[in-house]
Amino acid sequence: MKKTLLITGGAGFIGSHVVRLFVNQYPDYHIVNLDALTYAGNLENLKDIEDASNYTFIKADIREASVINQIFEEYRFDGVIHLAAESHVDRSLKDPNVFIETNVLGTANLLNAARELWKDDKEGKRFYHVSTDEVYGSLGDTGFFLETTPYDPQSPYSASKAASDHLVRAYGNSYKLPFVITNCSNNYGPNQFPEKLIPLFINNIRNMVPLPVYGDGKYTRDWLYVVDHARAIDLVFHEGKDGETYNIGGFNEWQNIELIKLLCRQMDEKLGREPGESEKLISYVKDRPGHDRRYAIDATKINKELGWKPSVTFEEGLSQSIDWYLQNEEWLQNVTSGDYKKYYQGQYE
Ligand code: NAD
Ligand code: DAU
Repeated sequence: MKKTLLITGGAGFIGSHVVRLFVNQYPDYHIVNLDALTYAGNLENLKDIEDASNYTFIKADIREASVINQIFEEYRFDGVIHLAAESHVDRSLKDPNVFIETNVLGTANLLNAARELWKDDKEGKRFYHVSTDEVYGSLGDTGFFLETTPYDPQSPYSASKAASDHLVRAYGNSYKLPFVITNCSNNYGPNQFPEKLIPLFINNIRNMVPLPVYGDGKYTRDWLYVVDHARAIDLVFHEGKDGETYNIGGFNEWQNIELIKLLCRQMDEKLGREPGESEKLISYVKDRPGHDRRYAIDATKINKELGWKPSVTFEEGLSQSIDWYLQNEEWLQNVTSGDYKKYYQGQYE
């Protein structure tokens, strides 16, 4: 094996796509997926590669420094791709502390372990921190987030991610830890936990349950198909420059309400419903507190320097995603039973 790589949060939505890509694309890498299997982690996401000879799963919590140190000592990683996090804004508004513990302290634990392991030999080592565009705050009707945009996080989630980004850069500066950071826009696609807009609305449309649109529905996000994010991570991990930040986005802004109407139209067609039937489920509800109005990424840097661009149009990606959720009914049933029902009631009823 040429390299041993740690991927954290690999049982989650984006992490599972990254793990699959690396396991399949790099047979000479040993891919170690470390995940605590919180409500958002699901080993079903990785059924197709779980027996691969270059893959190991470890159930562990990044909040536990001594456990993390032992794992680094045992596996002696050459690189880390860090995705493990609490990731849902609405949950961060209800219970911020777990976001601070996992996203800030958990990241610090990984940085400390990498710093210790690589202290005498940094050649070929890399700590890749996966972050979000939400650290830049909220845009008005115009403008884009650049890599140089000042941080201005507005929710406990984005503040915890911003803090973790600052820590990574500080370790780069203070200890010469080799790192890269990417800040990506909203992802969608297979295996996303149905607390986020697109899978939640697909599930509700399928079950003829009201679609809870926050506020006036005119909030704007820039959507990227998850497999294209995984492709970008592969590229930046291998070809990005040490100490650099790259913004990743879909060049694909949608107001929530327009996206929801497109989703309803595609689902009417796939489910054989009368045109307009699913749209009747739209129900405007109380807004998310402190709701960021608009996110939009300028992804020119990664495009120009590394040649990355999205490969899938939004209409295609959305259609493929709907097909995946409709074909994987058991996956949806499993993740929406039990605790999900309690979460849903607490959040929406
Ligand atoms: P997710 O919630 O689907 O998955 C997170 C994973 O981390 C889960 O498998 C969970 O079990 C694991 N995890 C949580 N706490 C842990 C802990 N203490 N120890 C070990 N594992 C733990 O998240 P996602 O949407 O796949 O996001 C992955 C990363 O990408 C996050 O860092 C997130 O901030 C970032 N990101 C997400 C998006 C998006 O649109 N989803 C966009 C940009 C960046
Ligand atoms: O921008 C990247 C970020 O995108 C990631 O860092 C986060 O991990 C990820 O959760 C996502 O954050 P958002 O808050 O933008 O995603 P969410 O799917 O929760 O919401 C998308 C938009 O839809 C937002 O304007 C809120 C709105 N919304 C969401 C839900 C769940 C609704 O109107 N109703 C809902 O029920």
